[in-house]
Amino acid sequence: MDLTRNTQHDEGYAGHSLHNLIYCSLASPDMDPAEIHKIIATAKHHNPRYGITGLLVFGSGIFFQWLEGPKDNVTSLMKIIGDDPRHLNVVVLSEEDEIRDRLFPDWDMELVEAAEIGDVLENALKEASDDKQKQMLAMFLQQLKLA
Ligand SMILES: Cc1cc2nc3c(=O)[nH]c(=O)nc-3n(C[C@H](O)[C@H](O)[C@H](O)COP(=O)(O)O)c2cc1C
Repeated sequence: MDLTRNTQHDEGYAGHSLHNLIYCSLASPDMDPAEIHKIIATAKHHNPRYGITGLLVFGSGIFFQWLEGPKDNVTSLMKIIGDDPRHLNVVVLSEEDEIRDRLFPDWDMELVEAAEIGDVLENALKEASDDKQKQMLAMFLQQLKLA
């Protein structure tokens, strides 16, 4: 992976704005569950160099990821992740600019097993204002009920 621009670390640099982004997606039906550990290993390898922290939630074939770090790096990483064939229907649920603090400053990328992913999705659906987001969240919830 090569996030060519802005590869320094983060908010310690003057004028460097911290950004966060949350998305969810469906794991590809043919994804081997062992891939999740490879994804985490890759993230733990790359993310510290780019000042990115966060967490990855996986449950019932659904991913949720929280990314935080310098805006350019989060945006570039999100493009790479979005093109990854191990998941589909990537929907950005929330994006915030100029956040003050990291929520997960010590986590290069932690895997959270999501027994409660249904609650997380229901809450996200309640909060969502965008029709496309609502539609995708409803689809994820439906998928969860089938799983
Ligand atoms: C759900 C999901 C989450 C991912 N999260 C990260 C991440 O936080 N950091 C990262 O470097 N790669 C992440 N990846 C992997 C990237 O899509 C990509 O495969 C990787 O960055 C390429 O690294 P490489 O060029 O060293 O093989 C994720 C992939 C998926 C499917």
